[in-house]
Amino acid sequence: MSDFLELYRCNLCFHVVEICKEGAGELVCCGEKMEKLEENIANPDNAHFANIENISDIEKKITFNHPMTQEHYIEFVEIISKDLKHIKRKHFSFDDELEMTIKCNCKNGFDVRLYCNRDGVWKTEIN
Ligand SMILES: [Fe+2]
Repeated sequence: MSDFLELYRCNLCFHVVEICKEGAGELVCCGEKMEKLEENIANPDNAHFANIENISDIEKKITFNHPMTQEHYIEFVEIISKDLKHIKRKHFSFDDELEMTIKCNCKNGFDVRLYCNRDGVWKTEIN
């Protein structure tokens, strides 16, 4: 059983998949059951916490105080509206600038979720 927007990883080939529609079957990769990646909640003291700067009424810049090295970096960041109807994802290489700009009218706010190659999935809730 998998639910909408859950992330799963194969611990043999490090394949990561996101659920676009929930289903009853078990996810398998390289012949083994995939691991469901649990979301950790980031607080402001954590390197996985999203810093939000308002550029205008609807435009926001998102940054992190997180290392970007070949051994430890953020592979992708997602902006997920609270109603789960709008999702924006940006992928990063270790030598990219870790910054994302979005335009968002989300009346009820949004969450910022990321996947760190070393520390897994982290979420910052923005209201
Ligand atoms: Fe990390």
